[in-house]
Amino acid sequence: MEQLWWRWRYRVGFYKYTCPRAETIVQSAVQSAVKANPTIAPGILRMFFHDCFVNGCDASILLKGTSTEKTGGPNLQLRGFEVIDAAKSQLEKACPGVVSCADIVALAARDSVVLTGGRSWQVPLGRRDGLVSRASDTANLPAFNEPISAQIKKFADKGLDIHDLVTLVGGHTIGTAQCGVFSYRLYNFNNTNRPDPDINPSFLPQLRALCPSGGDGSKRVALDTGSVNSFGNSFYTNLKNGRGVIESDAKLWSDPTTQKFVKRFLGYGSLFDFEFGRSMVKMGNVGVKTGKQGEIRKICTATN
Ligand code: HEM
Repeated sequence: MEQLWWRWRYRVGFYKYTCPRAETIVQSAVQSAVKANPTIAPGILRMFFHDCFVNGCDASILLKGTSTEKTGGPNLQLRGFEVIDAAKSQLEKACPGVVSCADIVALAARDSVVLTGGRSWQVPLGRRDGLVSRASDTANLPAFNEPISAQIKKFADKGLDIHDLVTLVGGHTIGTAQCGVFSYRLYNFNNTNRPDPDINPSFLPQLRALCPSGGDGSKRVALDTGSVNSFGNSFYTNLKNGRGVIESDAKLWSDPTTQKFVKRFLGYGSLFDFEFGRSMVKMGNVGVKTGKQGEIRKICTATN
């Protein structure tokens, strides 16, 4: 006979008895949002990463307030919050007080990958929602202009290795970046009066045309040129060909520590697809709260 403690353990199938339609409800909310606006899918995937790296995967990213995580610099461009709210309000009707916002974000991230052509994986569930959210903690997130050694350190602090780093940054196979986060590479990189030498000279005019010097820094450009809405390993081929858009992506190829991991994914789309799900489960385990460490919020934007 099933032991009761097992029911409350963080695991795949956590809502099997308490809210059997939980996964379907989240999936249909994400599906209709992405159908209406495909840029929501990368928005939600990134939201999950930013949730997990700051205070654990506990929906602290969703809390509204004057100095919550949401207001931190790296989070200002996040998209898709309304989809999480829509899923939550449907879940509260179906099974009140049962499904955490942290689990909704984890499921919605998986669904976003699948909707853009990635392979599915089983998401362990049973996270509880956190009570704390501080903008200052967003410094835990890796920055696009930090050296690879710093990226590795920030991932290691979360129990994620170099292989996870290279695999998870493959999330950049969908979505866009603002010109403002990479145009410094195009004209006067590190005060050299020249572009970043990691950029392929044949790619440079394309990027310069998209982001002219002194132009609109909020304009968005695909992170995976030629395949912005489709999940797959083309991102790594672009890195190899000097077509990485943000500096930290380009360095995954130019730095030998990470290059060997990028090489593994070249030409092996199914290997990347499989390993992405595995690393997402690992990232989804970061700082998971159980029992009294958290709660099941009534609405995702505020603690109870
Ligand atoms: C070294 C680690 C990483 C750095 C430095 C980084 C940095 C960035 C930057 C600068 C952007 C552009 C933001 C903007 O201009 O709006 C971005 C976008 C994005 N990131 Fe990352 N990222 C990292 C890892 C990850 C990981 C692990 C994931 C997911 C598993 C991820 C998913 C995304 C997605 C999907 C977008 C596109 C968002 C959109 O289109 O709205 N990133 N990232």
